[in-house]
Amino acid sequence: MADKKRIDEVTGFETTGHVWDDDLEELNKPLPKWWLYVLYASIIWAIGYWVLYPAWPLASDYTRGYLGYSQRAVVMEQVAAGKAAQAQFRDAIGKAELAEIQNKPDLLNFALAGGKAAFGDNCAPCHGRGAEGSMGYPNLNDDDWIWGGDLAAIERTIRHGIRSADADTRAGDMPKFGTDKLLEPAQIDDVAEHVLSLSGKASDQEAAIRGAAVFAENCTACHGETGKGNLELGAPNLIDGIWLYGTDKTDIVTSIETGRGGVMPPWHTRLDDVTIKQLAVYVHALGGGQ
Ligand code: HEC
Ligand code: HEC
Repeated sequence: MADKKRIDEVTGFETTGHVWDDDLEELNKPLPKWWLYVLYASIIWAIGYWVLYPAWPLASDYTRGYLGYSQRAVVMEQVAAGKAAQAQFRDAIGKAELAEIQNKPDLLNFALAGGKAAFGDNCAPCHGRGAEGSMGYPNLNDDDWIWGGDLAAIERTIRHGIRSADADTRAGDMPKFGTDKLLEPAQIDDVAEHVLSLSGKASDQEAAIRGAAVFAENCTACHGETGKGNLELGAPNLIDGIWLYGTDKTDIVTSIETGRGGVMPPWHTRLDDVTIKQLAVYVHALGGGQ
């Protein structure tokens, strides 16, 4: 064998000495050295990795690796760091007056983001995702307020609710003029026409004129001489064309007959102080705020 090794004239490579069919010789061309070294290095690296990091599945566990690394632990650390950063802001919001929060951009941003999230979780079922409201649930985007739209008023409404069981609830009931027979059906029809005329919508002018007298006698105590409402009593403005209970005459007649009496729960029993403040700032920002 060994004597059959020779230098091939054409390529200049040594042959291995293997010969087939008498004249077919094999050139000795091993893997390049660099390639082998890369292979060995990869093997060493892989073994090192197995030792240091989690690698091999076992029957009910896995090899944990010498460094004890775990992606879950890394995420938990990041979450904890995020919470710590939040804690700073929550602390600051807890101590600040509502107006101060509005004046500090970083606190304001944090309050708006937190308020938006809390609104989606707690308020959207009634007021809508975009706070656009619906029949019986006020739109919080317009700058038209039943109970007041400055920061303090909004916070109070959220904290204690409306016609709720809370001791400090916002309260104010409209008489049930129909149910309790305080007015005749004809009078209710007339005063409904008058109410429509207040926002320029009456269809029966004569009834509206008769209704004005009924209004002056029965309604102004709460809705005011001109019908512009009263925030203290939660009596809505009747002249702005924005309706809580619908724009049709039948809706208005129903309001007069039943007094409605919308209820909103109090939130200080369910949400912490910081969240309520965030919500007040968020809602105030939605409506432009008074
Ligand atoms: C169960 C339904 C319900 C939920 C939930 C609810 N609200 Fe209300 N909210 C109402 C009703 C009904 C009114 C109007 C009551 C009335 O005056 O007739 C109202 C009124 C308000 C008002 C007063 C608007 C004005 O014009 O003065 C604010 C502010 C408000 N809600 C904010 C919130 C916030 C913030 C949340 C979430 C923490 C929330 N609401 C959750 C039903 C709800
Ligand atoms: C004691 C106070 C009080 C008196 C008196 C009163 N209201 Fe009201 N009115 C309210 C309150 C409070 C509401 C809001 C009810 C609610 O939010 O559920 C209201 C709501 C209404 C609404 C619904 C408004 C909307 O946006 O949908 C109409 C219409 C209305 N009143 C008309 C009248 C008329 C007409 C009279 C007189 C016949 C009258 N009210 C007398 C307190 C009063």
